[in-house]
Amino acid sequence: MSPHLTPPTTKPRIPHFSSGPCAKRPGWSVSKLENACVGRSHRSADGKARIEEVIERSKAILGVPADYRLGIVPASDTGAVEMALWSLLGKLPLDILAWESFGLEWVKDVVDELKLPDLNVIKATYGSLPDLNQVDLSHDVVFLWNGTTSGVRVPNGDWIKGDRQGLTICDATSAVFAMEIPWEKLDVVTYSWQKVLGGEAQHGVIVLSPRAVERLESYVPAWPIPKLFRLTQKGKLIEGIFKGDTINTPSMLCVEDALDGLLWAESIGGLPGLIRRSEANLATIARWVEQSSWAAFLAEKPETRSCTSICLKIVDDWFTGLSPEKQAESAKKLAKLLEKQEVAFDIASYRAAPPGIRIWGGATVETADIEALLPWLDWAYATVKQE
Ligand SMILES: Cc1ncc(COP(=O)(O)O)c(C=O)c1O
Repeated sequence: MSPHLTPPTTKPRIPHFSSGPCAKRPGWSVSKLENACVGRSHRSADGKARIEEVIERSKAILGVPADYRLGIVPASDTGAVEMALWSLLGKLPLDILAWESFGLEWVKDVVDELKLPDLNVIKATYGSLPDLNQVDLSHDVVFLWNGTTSGVRVPNGDWIKGDRQGLTICDATSAVFAMEIPWEKLDVVTYSWQKVLGGEAQHGVIVLSPRAVERLESYVPAWPIPKLFRLTQKGKLIEGIFKGDTINTPSMLCVEDALDGLLWAESIGGLPGLIRRSEANLATIARWVEQSSWAAFLAEKPETRSCTSICLKIVDDWFTGLSPEKQAESAKKLAKLLEKQEVAFDIASYRAAPPGIRIWGGATVETADIEALLPWLDWAYATVKQE
């Protein structure tokens, strides 16, 4: 279908398609936080019970194995990832995968900050995935489950085969609650609250396998570990972190909001329900892309297409004939137009990614809103092209 200039008549009911903070769950309002344990110590019985409830419900919904630990940590997903890198790396050689901006951030950490000597960086460009068969599982491995800024995800954990000697450390912040995570193949999984369940930001979650705990208790890195990242004391895991005794003070308003998101997740059928909603959003966009004359998935292979951060590139001759600067400008204009119409907020592609569109399709986004958005994309593209 060709792009057209007549604006569609129906707007998405909720135009929140940002990839983080993501849309609040359907039916959310500030009043849902009325019972938050505010003005109280997070270490009071009531405060701690709320934090523990978040931990237990998260584990149950995600199907985290009983012998894994899940803790709430400072500084969002970045805090959780860096806590893992600083606490665990250096014992074995490291294979680190990067195919978009966040993966490259973790490469920077291990190269420039930790200065790991025995390092294998396996890279791919935006839209593709590195060759997963290159990963040596006798090494530690750091990778993203879903590359939020390119919309490329690992299709599964089949490449993590047999008995591994190293630890698999996975930044899964834009994947958990929307994709199947093969926990037994992963030793560290991190995420933050503002993604698939649309929670409030600033708190990270770290999930540790027994093997990760064994490393923590048997290995002391050569570099200092600030209190904010410290998971052990006198060579033993600080078990309290995984039972609601957070390292420092959390926001009890955010805790309440996380709880609200988890209760909603349970009400729609738990993880299968969440995955179904997100996959339906991807399928809706895929059907539209198939007949689009100008948009295509940035992710080259269908099995790597993210159902959360759905990234599209512009393949129309007019656009590809523009200079890179003009392409960036036009893609930005397109996003601005939609914002002005209050049809879609925050859908310009990530600043370091190829110019295009990124639509969040996590579980809190209604498929009806994605359906309503798609004709607007055609309208906005035609308008930008005509200018
Ligand atoms: C894959 C990935 N890693 C890390 C981050 C940073 O997350 P946070 O802001 O929760 O620290 C993001 C944010 O979008 C992300 O998508």
